[in-house]
Amino acid sequence: MVLIKFENSHEKVAMNLLSFMSSEQKLNVLHHTIQLYEENPNWHLYFWKLKENFVGAIGIELNEHTFNVHHASVHPDFRNEGIGHIMVEHVQRLHEPLAMSATPETKDFLAKCWEHQFSG
Ligand SMILES: CC(C)(COP(=O)(O)OP(=O)(O)OC[C@H]1O[C@@H](n2cnc3c(N)ncnc32)[C@H](O)[C@@H]1OP(=O)(O)O)[C@@H](O)C(=O)NCCC(=O)NCCS
Repeated sequence: MVLIKFENSHEKVAMNLLSFMSSEQKLNVLHHTIQLYEENPNWHLYFWKLKENFVGAIGIELNEHTFNVHHASVHPDFRNEGIGHIMVEHVQRLHEPLAMSATPETKDFLAKCWEHQFSG
């Protein structure tokens, strides 16, 4: 199980998964977000795949010393199984030594993941 990088052929699955975030409820906002991940070299979207299903997505923006997690979403059928935590852990490892930062929308869940890491 690894993070799979977004490609243009994943547009539909990206829209589906990102639409679970409250900031992405408007279709024009969602389209703009997908476009950012397609066109901006600092924006990266990854998927988590279980068997043949794309079950989660995590999207970040790279900065000079940090990366900001803008999106984290898991399909409702697969929630509370640890996929969110594992995506956060993998994205962190992938972008070391950059420090992870959050948006107002992702901060509570990321704080939960950090707590979990530090409590072993
Ligand atoms: C947030 C989300 C990605 C978590 O995915 P997940 O695979 O269910 O997460 P995990 O199984 O790794 O962890 C579940 C734990 O996170 C908690 N959690 C879920 N959403 C949370 C949030 N927004 N803030 C804080 N904790 C949250 C759950 O209550 C659960 O807690 P518990 O372990 O004490 O029971 C998923 O709930 C989701 O897609 N939500 C809709 C999208 C969204 O709102 N994203 C913004 C937050 S990143």
